[in-house]
Amino acid sequence: MSGSASGAGRSGLSGWVGERLPVQPDKLTAGLNEPVPAHLKAYWYCLGGTPMFLLLVQVVTGILLTFHYRADSAQAYASVERITHDVPYGWWIRSVHHWAAHLMVLTVFLHMVRVFFTGAYRRPRELTWMVGCLVLGLTLLMGFTGYSLIRDQNTYWGVNVASQITSQVPVVGETLRNLLLGGPENGDRTVSRLFVFHIGVLPTLLFLLLGAHLLLVRLHGVADVRRRETGVKTSTYPFFPDHVKTELILAITLTIVLCALAVIFPAPLRAAADPTTTPAHVKPEWYLYFTFRTLKLMGLTAALLVMGAFSFLLFFWPVVDDRIRRKRPGSEVSVWIGCAVVLLLIAFTIWESFA
Ligand code: HEM
Ligand code: HEM
Repeated sequence: MSGSASGAGRSGLSGWVGERLPVQPDKLTAGLNEPVPAHLKAYWYCLGGTPMFLLLVQVVTGILLTFHYRADSAQAYASVERITHDVPYGWWIRSVHHWAAHLMVLTVFLHMVRVFFTGAYRRPRELTWMVGCLVLGLTLLMGFTGYSLIRDQNTYWGVNVASQITSQVPVVGETLRNLLLGGPENGDRTVSRLFVFHIGVLPTLLFLLLGAHLLLVRLHGVADVRRRETGVKTSTYPFFPDHVKTELILAITLTIVLCALAVIFPAPLRAAADPTTTPAHVKPEWYLYFTFRTLKLMGLTAALLVMGAFSFLLFFWPVVDDRIRRKRPGSEVSVWIGCAVVLLLIAFTIWESFA
C-alpha cells in the first residue's frame, strides 16, 4: 500500500498523517483482532498480562528513581535515604517500585504454574516455554540487582553471599564474580556495576526476550487447552477490543492495589552497610528463599549442582514431558512431578522464612 493511497480521499490532519504513516487503521485493527479462546476471560488463564503491566510500572518508577539515585558504593545508601525522606513523593515512588517488583515475581511464577498445569507448553509451544524460562531468570536477576542497590546491611552481605556462590561455578566462576562485583571484592565499583546491570544490561535482554516470547504467543495463538480435555473446539472472542478491555480493568485494579500497598506498607530502609560486622541473619528476598534453604541443607557445591540440574530440567521440561508421555500415554506422571516440585518450593520458602 503506497503512502499517497493510504492518505488519499482524506483531507486535513488525518490525510496528512495518512500520507506520512502509510498504515490503514482497518488493517491494523484486523491484525489486533485475533480471536482468542473464551477461557482467557478467566484471570487464571490470562495471567501473563499482569507481569507485563508491572514491568511497565517498573520502567516508569525506575526512571524516576534514577533521577535521584547515586550509583556509587559510598553514596548509594544516603541517596536512598534522601529519596525516602526528602524528595517529594520519593518514598511513594520507591514503595511502588518495591511492591511492583514483589508482585511481578509472584505473578510470573503463577503464570508459569498455570502454563504448566494446563499443558500449554506442549508441542508446538516448547520454544515459548524455553524463552519464558530465560525471562524468569532475568526477572529474578532484576529483583536481586535492584535490592542490592539499596546498600543497607542486609543487601551488602547478601551481595557477599551471592559472590561466593558465583565464584564456585565451575570454570567461569571467578570471571562471573568479577563481572558481578566490578572486581574481586564487594567494594568501590560494586554498586555502579550492579546499577549498569539493573538499568541497562538486564532490561535490554528482558525486553528482547519478552518481545520474542510475545511474538511466539502471537504466531501460535493462545493454546486451546480446553479442547484437549473435552475434544470440542472452544468458542472464541476478539482480542481487540474485548480482551484488551479485560486487561485494562486488571491494570486499573493493579494500580489501586499498588498504591494501597505503598501507602500502608512503605518500602523499609534498614541500617546502612557495615562491612566490619557480619549480621546474625542475612536473607535475600522471599523469591530466593528456596535457593538459600538448599544451600543451607547441602552446602555450596552440592547445592550448585542440584540447582544447575533443576534449571536444566525446567528449561527442557517440554522435551522431557514429551518423552514421558510417549512412554506412558495418558499417564498423569507430569502432573504429579509438577505438584511435587511446587509443594517442595513452597515448603522450602516457608521453612526459610521461619529460620
Ligand atoms: C515477565 C514474564 C512473562 C510475561 C510478561 C509473559 C506474558 C505472556 C502472555 C501475555 C501470554 C499469553 C497468555 C496469557 O496471558 O497467559 C503468555 C503465554 C505463555 N507463556 Fe508467558 N510470560 C512471562 C513469563 C513466562 C514464563 C516464566 C514461562 C514459562 C517458563 C512462560 C511460558 C508461556 C507459555 C508456554 C505461553 C503459551 C500459553 C498458551 O498459549 O496458553 N511465560 N505469556
Ligand atoms: C528498566 C527499568 C528499571 C529501572 C530504571 C530501575 C531503577 C531502579 C533504581 C534506580 C533503584 C534504586 C532506588 C531505590 O532502591 O530506592 C531500583 C531499586 C529496585 N529495583 Fe529497579 N528498576 C527497573 C526495573 C526493575 C524491575 C523489572 C525489577 C524487578 C522485577 C526491579 C526491582 C527493584 C528492587 C527490588 C529495588 C529495591 C527497591 C527498594 O526496596 O528500595 N526494578 N530500581
